[in-house]
Amino acid sequence: MSFYTINSLTFSYAKTDKLFQNISFDIDVNQHIGLVGPNGCGKTSLVKLMLGILRPRGGEIYLEGSNIKDISLSDVGKKVGYVFQNPDKQLFCPTVLEQMRFSFTYGSSEPGEDIDDKINYYLKTFDLIQYKNFSPVKLSRGEKQRLALASVLSRNVKFLILDEPSTGLDILRKKELENCLMTLKQEGKGYMIISHEAKFLDKYVDQLLRLRPEGVEYV
Ligand SMILES: Nc1ncnc2c1ncn2[C@@H]1O[C@H](COP(=O)(O)OP(=O)(O)OP(=O)(O)O)[C@@H](O)[C@H]1O
Ligand SMILES: [Mg+2]
Repeated sequence: MSFYTINSLTFSYAKTDKLFQNISFDIDVNQHIGLVGPNGCGKTSLVKLMLGILRPRGGEIYLEGSNIKDISLSDVGKKVGYVFQNPDKQLFCPTVLEQMRFSFTYGSSEPGEDIDDKINYYLKTFDLIQYKNFSPVKLSRGEKQRLALASVLSRNVKFLILDEPSTGLDILRKKELENCLMTLKQEGKGYMIISHEAKFLDKYVDQLLRLRPEGVEYV
């Protein structure tokens, strides 16, 4: 059984003008995929469908064999970690530390795991430890992006979806992101990355999925 099965998916925001129509593909839990396509083709919308945030106009999405419409958002969140394209939409806690802790409130920690150790590790990795009592609102664009990444990467999810994760990161921080992706690969965890950076994708994904209005294809 595939981790994700996308079956004949059709979606549009308005009743007319289909964004994409009858697209089908499978994703295995340990696959490393890049999702590509021009601005506005529907990549972020497809991801929101895969998380159950948006509902299809046609077709179905199965996550580990269950139709996503029958799974609560928090149960999807236990299996799939997601970094939004816009980190402002992801950061809502009063402090950086609370934002990190929030990631663990859905029971995504492992028994015996020291959550504080893990949070500190990721805050240090992404060079955010000095901001732990700051409000996320006060962080710069790149710092917000790093916090969004740190909070998702610290969780024990099986699969990650990262929507343009390298946007706004300087060279050093991009390297940290790349190290984390390497670690995820070594741990056997899968991910799907949306990016317009061909070089970045080349290094960290094994397959590219191209989204077009008439369908998707592995390229
Ligand atoms: N909430 C919404 N209501 C109506 N239209 C929307 C909404 N969100 C997105 N759209 C439109 O749907 C289309 C696809 O948007 P989406 O964000 O999925 O594209 P994308 O492939 O992620 O683009 P980008 O590469 O710029 O991130 C765009 O034309 C966008 O304007
Ligand atoms: Mg997008």
